[in-house]
Amino acid sequence: MNLNAKTKYSGLAMLLHWLVFVAVIVSWRIAEGAEEAATREARGEIMANHFALGIVIFALVALRLVWRQISPPPPAPAGHAGWERTLAKSVHLAFYALLLIMPIAGWIAMSSYGGTISVWGLFELPRLPVPANEALGEQIFETHALAGKALLILIVVHTLGALKHTIFDKDGTLFRMLPFGTAKG
Ligand code: HEM
Repeated sequence: MNLNAKTKYSGLAMLLHWLVFVAVIVSWRIAEGAEEAATREARGEIMANHFALGIVIFALVALRLVWRQISPPPPAPAGHAGWERTLAKSVHLAFYALLLIMPIAGWIAMSSYGGTISVWGLFELPRLPVPANEALGEQIFETHALAGKALLILIVVHTLGALKHTIFDKDGTLFRMLPFGTAKG
C-alpha cells in the first residue's frame, strides 16, 4: 500500500458535494410541497424558490466540474471491484448530466411559458428566445419531473454504494468525501 497516496477529495470538492446534496433535497421537497398549495398564486410563489435553487445547483455543479480539472479526484480505492468502479463512474456521470440539463430544461420550459426566472430578486435570468408554446413547456416540465425521479433513484444507489463500502467492506469510502476519518487507498 502506498501510504502517500491521496485518498480524499479536496476541501472545496467536499464543500460543493454536500452543498449540492442539500440543495437537491431542498429543491425536491419544495417542488413536492408546491403540489399541496391552496391556490395557483401560492404554488407560483413556492415554485419560484425551486427555480432559483435550480440555478444555484447549476452554478455549483459547473464550479465543481471546473474545480475537478484543477484538483482531480483521488484514485479509486484499490479494493473496489471493476464493476463497482464502472457503476460508480456511470452514476457520477449521470449526476453531472442531470444536474446540468435539468435546470436548463426548466429555464427553456419557463421561457416557452413566456416567463423569466428570478434568483430571489438578486438577478433575473431573461426569457430564452424560444417560441411561446405552453404545450411544449408542459412537456418539458413533465420530462423534468421524470428526470427528477431518475435522480432520486441514483441518489439511493449512490448512497447505498457509499454505505456498503464503508460499513461492510470497512474501507472508509465515505471519508473520501468528509474532512474527518480515514479512507483506505
Ligand atoms: C444529491 C445527492 C448526491 C449527489 C448529486 C452526489 C454526487 C456525487 C458525485 C458526482 C460524486 C463524484 C465526485 C467526482 O469524482 O467528481 C460523488 C462522490 C461521492 N459521494 Fe455523492 N452525491 C450525493 C449524495 C451523497 C450521499 C448522501 C453520500 C453518502 C451517504 C455520498 C457520498 C459520496 C462519496 C463517499 C463520494 C466519493 C466516492 C468515491 O470517490 O469513491 N454522496 N457524489
